[in-house]
Amino acid sequence: MKEIVLNEQEIQDAVKRVAEKLKEKFKDSKSIPVFIGVLKGAMPFMMDLLKYYDLPLVEDFIQVSSYDGTSSTGVIHLKKDITENVKNKDIVIIEDIVDTGTTLSYLKQYFKIKYQPKSITIVSFLDKKPLRKVDLEVDIAGVALTKNQFLVGYGLDYNEIKRNTPYIFIPDEEEIDSWNKLLKENE
Ligand code: IMP
Ligand code: MG
Repeated sequence: MKEIVLNEQEIQDAVKRVAEKLKEKFKDSKSIPVFIGVLKGAMPFMMDLLKYYDLPLVEDFIQVSSYDGTSSTGVIHLKKDITENVKNKDIVIIEDIVDTGTTLSYLKQYFKIKYQPKSITIVSFLDKKPLRKVDLEVDIAGVALTKNQFLVGYGLDYNEIKRNTPYIFIPDEEEIDSWNKLLKENE
């Protein structure tokens, strides 16, 4: 491991700040918001966030993919759609990380056109703002990142493994080599 970027305590503190902002936003709302987690990366963040967000909400999930190895391919595949009817609802899209912005700008358009929600709020645990390639504003971010580093843990994967690490870190080359070996053995 090269470096721990966020330890477990730092993660929880950031998640609590996001939950407070969302509570502030929806505390007087008469309609129940639908929180839509983007699978699979947003799972740990969404689970923690909902512990601190103690107001009524409905949960749903969508699954898309765009990443291959350590870089974004730019082509989005919709793998699983939501199951709730979110027409005229306040929806909150929950992501692990925004990088180029391609995934979320696709999802935002997708929801607008297909479901016509009343509002769309974009929440991402991490925001790699300097790497943005498309015009996409994150409404609420947990932690802003300034450097272009490939991160792993707390939902972030390396070819589907290591999502279950409770902290966020930068892997070193040796580690990546050993993961590649493990992945090859499991092909
Ligand atoms: P974007 O479409 O370029 O904004 O990429 C967003 C998606 O890429 C996220 O939902 C993640 O699944 C993935 N991603 C972006 N940066 C990282 C990273 O540093 N580690 C692992 N996955 C990442
Ligand atoms: Mg993701």
